[in-house]
Amino acid sequence: MATRQSEVVERVGRNFNALTDWIDARFPMTKLIKEHATEYYASKNFNVWYGFGVLATVVLVMQIVTGIFLTMNYKPASADAFASVEYIMRDVEWGWLIRYLHSTGASAFFIVVYLHMFRGLLYGSYKKPRELVWLIGMVIYLCLMGEAFFGYLLPWGNMSYWGAQVIVSLFGAVPVIGEGIAEWLRGDFYISDITLNRFFAFHVIAVPLMLVLLVAVHIMALHEVGSNNPDGIEIKEHKDANGKPIDGVAFHPYHTSKDLVIILVFFIIFAAVVFFAPEMGGYFLEHANFEPANSLVTPEHIAPVWYFTPFYSILKAVPDKLLGVVLMGSSVMLPVFLPWLDRCRVKSIRYRSGVYKFALFAFAVSFIVLGYIGLQPPTPEYTLMARLFASVYFAFFLLMPFYTANEKTKPVPTRVTK
Ligand code: HEM
Repeated sequence: MATRQSEVVERVGRNFNALTDWIDARFPMTKLIKEHATEYYASKNFNVWYGFGVLATVVLVMQIVTGIFLTMNYKPASADAFASVEYIMRDVEWGWLIRYLHSTGASAFFIVVYLHMFRGLLYGSYKKPRELVWLIGMVIYLCLMGEAFFGYLLPWGNMSYWGAQVIVSLFGAVPVIGEGIAEWLRGDFYISDITLNRFFAFHVIAVPLMLVLLVAVHIMALHEVGSNNPDGIEIKEHKDANGKPIDGVAFHPYHTSKDLVIILVFFIIFAAVVFFAPEMGGYFLEHANFEPANSLVTPEHIAPVWYFTPFYSILKAVPDKLLGVVLMGSSVMLPVFLPWLDRCRVKSIRYRSGVYKFALFAFAVSFIVLGYIGLQPPTPEYTLMARLFASVYFAFFLLMPFYTANEKTKPVPTRVTK
C-alpha cells in the first residue's frame, strides 16, 4: 500500500516537473518566481510595519473582485443608480456582503496605505536608492485618491452628488480657464447623468488598470534595489561566499509565512467591521448618502470621507478660494519631495535625532487632528485649530532641509539588529 502511494507521489512529481520544464522553455516562470520570491533576499528583521505593502496588495485584489460582482447589478445612470445599489443590498443574493466588503475595503485601503507610507517616514525608505519606489508609490496614492473620488459618486446618494459638486467646482477657482476645466470634467454644467457615466468608466476600468500596472512597477523597482529594513542599512553590503546577503532571508517561505499571519489578523478585524459596523458611525458610509441625490437640497454638512479630510481642512482653513485650493494641492504633493527635503544620511528613526523624532510625531498629530477637524461642521475654534495644525503640517516638510542638515544621529550598526 505504502509503496503504491509513494509510486503515485513520484509520478505526480515527475509530471509536475515535466510541466514546469515545458512552461519554462516558453515563459520565464521559474526565473520570475526565483527573482521575486524564493531567491529574493529581504532583511530577516522585518517587523509588522513591513506587512502593510502585502496588505495593500490583498485589499487591491479584494476591491477588484468585489467590484466586478457589484458591476453585475449596478446601473450607471442617474435615474437607476441609487435604486440599483438598494437592489444589491436587499435582493441580490449576498449582495449586501459584496457591497459592504467593497465600501469597508475603501476605508481599509487608505488605513493600510497611510500606515505603509508612514513606515517609509519611520525608516527613511524614500531615501537613496529607493527614491523611485517612493515616487511610484506617490503616483499610486494619487490614483487611489482618484479611484475613491470617482467611486463615491456611483451610489448617487446626496453626499455623492454634493461631494462631487464641491470638489469639481474647486477647479473653478483657477483664473480664466477654471470654469472651462470644471465643465470639461463634468461633461455638463452641473453634476449629471453624463458625469456619472464617465466617473463609472474611470472607476471600473481606467484607474484600476493603472493601479495594477503601477503596483507591478512599484514592486519591480523595489526588487531592483532591495527592501530597506527597520535598521535602515543596506543588507547587500554584507554578502556570504555564495553572494547572498548574510542578514537576508528568502522572501518565500520566510516572509510569506509571517505575512500570512498579518493577513489573517487583518481579516479578523476587517470582518468585525463588515459584520458589526459597516457604516462605522457614518465615517465609512455617510448618513446623507442613504438619501438619493437631490440637486435642490444640500446635506446639512458637506464633508468628504475621512481619508480626504486632512486635506479638506486645509482648504477650509484658508479664506481665499484659490489660495485654499493651491495649499490643499501642495499638502497632497509635498511628500513627493521627501527624498530631497530630508538631508540626513541616517535612514532609520532608531538612530535619528530627537529633533526628527519630535518633527515626525508633530506631523502625525497634525495629520490626525486635521482629519478630525475636516469631519466637523466649521466653527471659529476649529478654523483656528486647522490653521495651527496646517502650519505644523507644512513646517514638517518645508523646514526639513534645515532641521535635518546637521542632525545629531546615533552610530548606525553595520549589521541588522532586532
Ligand atoms: C496600492 C497601493 C500600494 C501597494 C499595493 C504597495 C505595495 C508594496 C509592497 C508589496 C511592498 C513591499 C513590502 C513592504 O515593504 O511593505 C512595498 C514597498 C514600498 N512601498 Fe508600496 N505599495 C502601495 C502604495 C505605496 C505608496 C502610496 C507609497 C508611498 C508614497 C509606497 C512606498 C513604498 C516604499 C518606499 C517601499 C519600500 C519600503 C522599504 O523597503 O522599506 N507604496 N509596497
